[in-house]
Amino acid sequence: MKYEETWNEVEEYISRKVIREPPYMESALKRSINSGIPQISVPVTEGKLINIMAKAINAKKALEIGVLWGYGTMNIASAMGNDGMVTGLERVEKHAEIARQNIKEAGLESRVEIRTGDAMESLISMRDSREGPFDLIFIDADKGPYADYFRICLDLSHQGTIIFVDNMVWRGRIIESDSTDEDVIGIRRLYDELEKQDGIDATVIQSVGSKGYDGFAVIRVLRDTHK
Ligand SMILES: C[S@@+](CC[C@H](N)C(=O)[O-])C[C@H]1O[C@@H](n2cnc3c(N)ncnc32)[C@H](O)[C@@H]1O
Repeated sequence: MKYEETWNEVEEYISRKVIREPPYMESALKRSINSGIPQISVPVTEGKLINIMAKAINAKKALEIGVLWGYGTMNIASAMGNDGMVTGLERVEKHAEIARQNIKEAGLESRVEIRTGDAMESLISMRDSREGPFDLIFIDADKGPYADYFRICLDLSHQGTIIFVDNMVWRGRIIESDSTDEDVIGIRRLYDELEKQDGIDATVIQSVGSKGYDGFAVIRVLRDTHK
């Protein structure tokens, strides 16, 4: 059996045995498939991890960069009480629209605000208007500006903020130091940023499964960096 087949089967086994998701996730997934938007949300194992982390830190204010059909968003919003708020940034209007429908059907609309537009522009205006600080930040959009997203996210953080970043292994391509691929360069720039930042605690976990070979970073901000 090829490793890839094993990964998929193991992920299915894990999902069946241990992952509990509310029923609305299935209809939300169906709506996203029917609408033809790309199936590139985090795997269920990662979605559940984000959900557990949000509960563990009692997150009340969260930020997601790259919403797609709202899977990550709903995993965070459902971990919060009615006093919680997730701000989602999404460039593609159709993705935002499907996400809004999914979130409404899940009964989570009072805890979610999705802003359409380019994430960098939204982040700069959030920093300028001193929004935040956020308890939990999930970075999962285009890879080129990852390091810039991260730096602005630090400005939107407080001591103890958890920043979760997806796609940090990118099929192992992150070790290609002479790559000219803008995604690889972008992710590697974030590694350089993590290397020089002394106000954080961070790790990157490699992962395999239905979304292939990849990984994610979990970063904890050690001091108040809110600007
Ligand atoms: C990998 S998907 C996000 C998946 C989502 N976080 C989840 O796991 O459920 C990436 C999303 O980021 C959006 N995106 C890409 N570049 C963006 C940008 N510059 N500004 C805002 N959104 C962007 C894409 O349209 C896509 O919906």
